[in-house]
This record gives sequence, C-alpha cells and structure tokens, in this order.
Amino acid sequence: MSDSAKAHGAVIGRTGGRRDFSGYRLIEVRPFAPNLGAEIRGVTLADGLSEAQFAEVHRAFVENQVIFFKDQKPIPPEVHIAIGRMFGELHAHPAAPHMEGHPEIFVIHAHAGSRIANGEFWHSDVSCDAEPPLGTMLQIQVMPDCGGDTMFADSYAAWETLSPPLRVMLEGLTARHEGEHVYRGRYAERGVEDAGRTYPVAVHPIARTHPESGRKALYVNRTFTTRIPELSPAESDALLGFLFDHAERVEFQIRFRWSVNDMAFWDNRCVMHRSIWDYWPAERRGNRVTIKGERPV
Ligand code: SIN
Repeated sequence: MSDSAKAHGAVIGRTGGRRDFSGYRLIEVRPFAPNLGAEIRGVTLADGLSEAQFAEVHRAFVENQVIFFKDQKPIPPEVHIAIGRMFGELHAHPAAPHMEGHPEIFVIHAHAGSRIANGEFWHSDVSCDAEPPLGTMLQIQVMPDCGGDTMFADSYAAWETLSPPLRVMLEGLTARHEGEHVYRGRYAERGVEDAGRTYPVAVHPIARTHPESGRKALYVNRTFTTRIPELSPAESDALLGFLFDHAERVEFQIRFRWSVNDMAFWDNRCVMHRSIWDYWPAERRGNRVTIKGERPV
C-alpha cells in the first residue's frame, strides 16, 4: 500500500467500529455518516423528554457528537427550554437577540432584508467565553425550498490525525479566543445596541479533554481564535492557519440537509459547525437553546 493510501486509511478508518448503536429501548438511533452524527427517531420533542428518554438521548449525544431529531413538530419555547435545562444550566449569549419573553431562546433568522445570516464561518459556539457552551439545540421551523444546510466537523478526528510530535508540542500551548471582532455591531439590524458593551476574551488549551468521553479534541476555530500567546505573532499566525485548515478537512465533515422542524443538537466540545447562506432572498428561521459548559481543560 502506498504511503498516501496508508495516510488516507489512517484518517477515514480511525474511529471505525467505535460507535455502538445497540441497547437503545426508547429511541431509535441510526448513523448519519460513518464517523460522525446520528439520526434520532421515536421521540416527539414537543411533548418533552422523560428521564428515561433523556438518559438515552444523552448517551446518543455524547457518543455521536451531533444528533438530528427527525419527524418533529414545532417545539413550544417553554418545552425547548425545559429540555435544554435537563442537560445543564442555560448559556446567555453575549450578543445575540432573543425571543420576546424568552431570554433563553436565540432566534436564528435570515430573510430577503438580512445583511448577515448566523454562523457562516467554522466555529464552536461562543468559544470566547471563559465557560463556553457545552451544547446547542437548534430547531429550524421555516425553511427555504432548498439550501440552508449546516455543516459539522469532527474535532476529535482533527486532534487524532495530527502527528505525535505536533500533538506533544500543542499539548503545551493555549489559544486566545475573542468576541469583539465577531460581535461588535453584528446584530444592529435586529435592534441590538452594543455601545459600551465589552465582549468576552478567553484563553483555552489547544487540546481540550471532553469531560464525559475522556477524548481529546482540537479546540481552535477560524471565527474566534486569534493568537497562541506562547509563540511569536508570525509563528502563531502560521500554526493557527495550519490548524484551521486541518480542522476543516472534508474527511472530518458532514453536511446536514434540514427538513422543517428537525432539531439538531451538537456538542461544542468536540465539533465545529457552520451554516450555509445560499438561499437568499428566501427565509430561514429557527429557535436555539444553548447549554452552558465548563472551563475547557
Ligand atoms: C449557529 O451557528 O448557531 C447557526 C447554525 C445554523 O443556522 O444552521
């Protein structure tokens, strides 16, 4: 076998067989792609989650990194918030507009008059926070006829496919994540006035260990990560440029095509995502509940 064929095998085969889809009694869990993501059926989120359903959904979430709930009805805001709270305290977004009467819900909305959509570049949600979100639950309720997909990339795979000497070096480094250049004025057209507001800055390990799976993930992203403080500016730019490109490799990605009322629940500790605004002037709208996480270690 050629060296490049071996390297390819090392990428695509690295997690083969690790995921287990057996043992679920209350929900149906099917792989979305060979290494990442699962589709969930057999539960109607609009009715809420029982403790027993929660346990199975939680397992599917941790093992598959992003899960897609199919065949759903619109989830009432109170129910969406209650489901989010089963996974932990909710995260307050530092910039985004929220639903009237429900500060826990961030309304994702793009239409003919929009200047921006949301999340158009690879990121892990609000990684500039000292305690960035653990996970995000987004239900899309208004869809364009086609387009508006969301992409996810596996940050475990990104870490595991770096060479051992580079991983040793990265384990001793941190990265700075900033919100200012992302959020300043971003939501002005949706009525958010941010004069005088300061946006978060945080320094996190480049390799973070997932508190539930125990696996390491590469935790830098093109949207928020600005600098490796232990290196010179030129070294930092070069290394971050390489790491962003590596983390976005197509072999690590999946692309989710939504149906109306699907809900995606992604684990920000081990996946990045980006949305694709290819549907202008059509409208796309949904509700997002975000769960607070711990300080990355
Ligand atoms: C986001 O980054 O939360 C937006 C994702 C999407 O709209 O698909």
